[in-house]
Amino acid sequence: MTQEYVWFITGANRGIGLEMVKQLLQSPANIIVAAARDPAKATELQGLAENAGGKLRLLGIDYLINNAGVMLGGEDTAFSMYVDVLTKTFATNVGGPALVTQAFIGLVEKSEKKTVVNISSTVGSIASDFGAKAASYAISKAALNMLTYKEAKEKPDLTVILMCPGWLQTDLGGPDAILPVSVGVGGVLKTILALKPEDSGTFFNFQGQGVPW
Ligand SMILES: NC(=O)c1ccc[n+]([C@@H]2O[C@H](COP(=O)([O-])OP(=O)(O)OC[C@H]3O[C@@H](n4cnc5c(N)ncnc54)[C@H](OP(=O)(O)O)[C@@H]3O)[C@@H](O)[C@H]2O)c1
Repeated sequence: MTQEYVWFITGANRGIGLEMVKQLLQSPANIIVAAARDPAKATELQGLAENAGGKLRLLGIDYLINNAGVMLGGEDTAFSMYVDVLTKTFATNVGGPALVTQAFIGLVEKSEKKTVVNISSTVGSIASDFGAKAASYAISKAALNMLTYKEAKEKPDLTVILMCPGWLQTDLGGPDAILPVSVGVGGVLKTILALKPEDSGTFFNFQGQGVPW
């Protein structure tokens, strides 16, 4: 029998999360738990589930993908951003992944792959030097990077990593984004499937290259 792996993905009703579900359904090895905050409105996701042959089980979670995220402040800057926008962005982009991982860590630890992936962005990398814009978003992703480092250090038996999916054509990425969502997600999943335990605590882009902090 083919080895099966359980994936848990937040923000699966649109954008990067929905494309991950579509690509993972191509392989019979994958069982997907797709999380959406309003499942009744997630019509495309429901359609996929109806045709997925019941590949929905919860034994352990091999891959927990903290994908849900927001960019509420647009191109705001350190001197123009609203602190309530920063706080709301922080709650979703840092508090969300922290709480989801706390809630499901028991199921991750029961699995074979024991992998947690936090979807970040290179704009949260200080060394990548992206300049003044998108301050509230970048600050939240820099904090997510530190959260990931802390999770990896606390649980060395897990593989906890960060991934930047590239600048993708989704609601968040906007109309000027350079890549179709299928390309970025294909690269993200390829990188995740090639992970080794020693990769824990690191930051990759969708081409599988390391991103500096
Ligand atoms: N697109 C890019 O260019 C790009 C680049 C780098 C990193 N990223 C990261 O990739 C991830 C996904 O982005 P995307 O481009 O797919 O964005 P998107 O198309 O705007 O989709 C965002 C997803 O996150 C969910 N979400 C937002 N706030 C939530 C909350 N408070 N609780 C639960 N779910 C929530 C949304 O659910 P609703 O539909 O219910 O709002 C939706 O499913 C984010 O972490 C983002 O920062 C994206």
